[in-house]
Amino acid sequence: MPFAGRHVVLGVSGGIACYKSCTLARRLTEDGAVVDVVLTASAAEFVRPVTFEALTGRPVLTSLWERDRALAHIGLAKQPDLAIVAPATAHLLARAALGMADDVLTALLLARYGPVLAAPAMNDTMYAHPATLANLKTLAARGWHFIGPDTGALAEGPSDRPGRMSEPEAIQAAAARLLVTGSRLTGKTVVVTAGPTREHLDPVRVITNPSSGRMGYALAAAAYARGADVLLVTGPTDLPLPLGVTTHRIETTAEMQRAVGALVKQADVLIMAAAPADYRPATASPTKRPRASGTLTLELEATPDILATLQRPRPCVVVGFALEAGGDGVAKARKKLQDKALDFVILNDALEPGAGFEVATNRVTIIGKGGEPIELPLLAKRDVAEKILDAVEQALT
Ligand SMILES: Cc1cc2nc3c(=O)[nH]c(=O)nc-3n(C[C@H](O)[C@H](O)[C@H](O)COP(=O)(O)O)c2cc1C
Repeated sequence: MPFAGRHVVLGVSGGIACYKSCTLARRLTEDGAVVDVVLTASAAEFVRPVTFEALTGRPVLTSLWERDRALAHIGLAKQPDLAIVAPATAHLLARAALGMADDVLTALLLARYGPVLAAPAMNDTMYAHPATLANLKTLAARGWHFIGPDTGALAEGPSDRPGRMSEPEAIQAAAARLLVTGSRLTGKTVVVTAGPTREHLDPVRVITNPSSGRMGYALAAAAYARGADVLLVTGPTDLPLPLGVTTHRIETTAEMQRAVGALVKQADVLIMAAAPADYRPATASPTKRPRASGTLTLELEATPDILATLQRPRPCVVVGFALEAGGDGVAKARKKLQDKALDFVILNDALEPGAGFEVATNRVTIIGKGGEPIELPLLAKRDVAEKILDAVEQALT
């Protein structure tokens, strides 16, 4: 609950994306933040202050000259935990970079020491202009954080260049990260694998498994929210990509092995939540195999064991998953922990209802190198992810 009880000032400047800031104000408020909205005069042309007042339940500031609120901008510069500027117009960025204070929002930003997160939004040519890029560089050097802009449709039509404001949920995820305090994962690089892999029999047929990728995606999102730089190696899934995470898409186990081998060089934590296929056809046909009557016998060979073959060039907390189907899972998981020199094994039972593949919940046991296994109840995968990261944080020095 990163927003509960936190104080956020939401500065809104005059771009067409102002309408999305209403959603942002609403979501931050729903998540428990006290949200004070400050509008430029141009922003108030796009969305009337009363809209934000109704969404946040707080008075909105639009001018330095409001009666009875003479020094409100100074209070709002100093008190809030975070200032978000969304949208940040080219004009607002230019004024802030110059240190101007000619309206209530720029005066507030000039008086602020605490973190500022800006979501630039403008026409793609305005964004690519050297003047705008120089202003962004100046503000970044002063410690401002940025999210976006994204590439995609602009008000004036389609575009394949950056300019579109990031979506409210992406801005909120970036804001949550800036509000995190005291996580040992902040600033660390976390590599997460997720989803199934596919091994081709021929161009149109594969051996795979029903892994949805949900556990790995939940871990990636939770690590990002704790301030980590997250590199996600994902097999094919239909899930939306977690926000703020750098994604490497792969298809086969060998491709996953190569991607992990390259990324582990920068990893502080490696979490292997993927379900790679253990076998692949010994020979894959380059053309579609014709259907024939009778049976088909395939010769399979083992795919690479990614953890067993992994070179670890630097200290790294390594978490593996063990999916067992009944039996003495804890003993098998402990053996895996030792054989593969892991820091943790996350054991789950493929046969248990509500756990394992294709579902939004999981029941796992966290087994570390020392201490008793931690048996968790059936939880949403995002809650399981938080518990796993709590254990990882304990192991990080
Ligand atoms: C319909 C319309 C849409 C606009 N959209 C944007 C925009 O997305 N980004 C931007 O930088 N400026 C945009 N502008 C121009 C700004 O409103 C203008 O530069 C204004 O001076 C910004 O003032 P402010 O930064 O103080 O809010 C738009 C103007 C109009 C009339």
